[in-house]
Amino acid sequence: MNRMQTLRIELGERSYPIHIGSDLNAAELLAPYVTMKNVLLVTDSNVDRLYGEKVQAELGKNAASVTKFVFKAGEGSKNLATVENICRAAVRAGLDRSSVFAALGGGVCGDMTGLAAALYMRGTRYIQIPTTLLAMVDSSVGGKTGVDLPEGKNLVGAFFQPMLVLMEMNLLRTLPERELSNGFAEMVKTAVILDGELFETLERSAPELLRLSPGSPIAETVKRCCELKGQVVAKDERESNLRAILNYGHTFGHALEAVTGYTKFAHGEAVSIGMCMAADLAVSEGLMSGEEAQRQEALLREFHLPVDAGESVSPEALLNAMEHDKKSAGGKIKVVLADRIGHADVFSGIGREQIEEAVSGRL
Ligand SMILES: NC(=O)c1ccc[n+]([C@@H]2O[C@H](COP(=O)([O-])OP(=O)(O)OC[C@H]3O[C@@H](n4cnc5c(N)ncnc54)[C@H](O)[C@@H]3O)[C@@H](O)[C@H]2O)c1
Ligand SMILES: [Zn+2]
Repeated sequence: MNRMQTLRIELGERSYPIHIGSDLNAAELLAPYVTMKNVLLVTDSNVDRLYGEKVQAELGKNAASVTKFVFKAGEGSKNLATVENICRAAVRAGLDRSSVFAALGGGVCGDMTGLAAALYMRGTRYIQIPTTLLAMVDSSVGGKTGVDLPEGKNLVGAFFQPMLVLMEMNLLRTLPERELSNGFAEMVKTAVILDGELFETLERSAPELLRLSPGSPIAETVKRCCELKGQVVAKDERESNLRAILNYGHTFGHALEAVTGYTKFAHGEAVSIGMCMAADLAVSEGLMSGEEAQRQEALLREFHLPVDAGESVSPEALLNAMEHDKKSAGGKIKVVLADRIGHADVFSGIGREQIEEAVSGRL
C-alpha cells in the first residue's frame, strides 16, 4: 500500500517538501527534480550494498545520467578529503550548476553531500534520501551540512537547504537495532522539548516502534518530529536562539562523547544519558517534577538506551569538556532544561557546582 504524507519546511524561497511514507513511488516523486539532469548519487558502502542499485535505477528513469559515488561507511569518512572526492567525481560525471546531488544514507552521507552541493561550482541543488532514523528525524531537516576536522566534530560546514527530502520507512528495516535506538533518542528529545502529546504516543507505542511492526506509528511520529524541528528552524534558521533548544541533552552528551574518545557511546546513547543529566539538574533546580524526570528515563529505557555512563568519568572532566563545547558561548555553560515534558528553555546562569552535582549521579 502506498501511503504518503507531505510536509513543507517553510523557509521563504528555500522552502522544500518532505515526503514521508511506505512503499513510496520514488521514481515518480524524484522526477520533478531530476528529469534531464545529471545526478551524482552519493552513498556509503553499507547502504550501497542494500539500496545503491535500486535507487540509481529509480533516479535513472528520468535523469539524463546517474553516477554513483560510494564512500567507506562511518564517521571516519566525514571529512574534507571525502568532500573533495565527491566534487571531483561530480566533475568527472559532467555535473554543472544545474545538476543535482542525491544523498542516500545516514547523517554522515547527508551532511557531506549537502556540503559538497553547497561548494560545488559555488552552489548546486541536492536531494536527501535518509536511510537512518536519526537522519530522518534530525540531520535531514534544518539544512546544517558539514564535516569533522581532526580537532573536532562538525567544525566546517554551511547552512544549505535541500530541495527535496524523501523518507521511505521501509529503508529502516535493515538498520541495526543500535542505530534505530539512536534515532529514537532524538525523537524522545524532540518530544520532551516541544510536544507532550508526541511523548505520550512514544510511551504508548515504544515496543512496536522499536520492532517497526506494521501498524506502529513510525511514519506519524517521524512526521511529527520533522514538523516540530521544521517549525523551530523556520523561526531560527541559523541558530541564534530558539534553535538552541534542539541541543537538549547534547551539551552533556557531546562532552560525554569527547571524554570517552568517541568510542564507547553512539551519539544517541550519549544524548540519552545527557537528557537524564539535564532532567536531574532540572529537578534539583526545582524546574521539573521528579515524576516527569522518571517518565523520561523510563521511555529511554524502553528504547534500549542507556541512562547512565556506567564508567568512571570524573564530573570535573565532563564539566571541562562542556566548557569547551562550541555551544557554550563565552565560557559560561549554557544548558537546555525542560520545565515539563513538552517545554524547554536555555539556561545560562546555573552554577558549575550544581551542574557537577547533577552529572555525578549518572557517571
Ligand atoms: N545536520 C544535522 O543537523 C545533524 C543532526 C544530527 C546529527 N548529524 C550528524 O549525523 C551523523 C550521524 O548520522 P547517522 O547516525 O545516520 O550515522 P551514519 O550515517 O554513519 O549511519 C549509521 C550506520 O548505519 C548504516 N546504515 C545507514 N542506513 C542503513 C540502513 N537503512 N540499513 C542498514 N544500515 C544502514 C551506515 O552505513 C552506518 O554504518 C553524525 O555525523 C552527526 O554529526 C547531523
Ligand atoms: Zn543529536
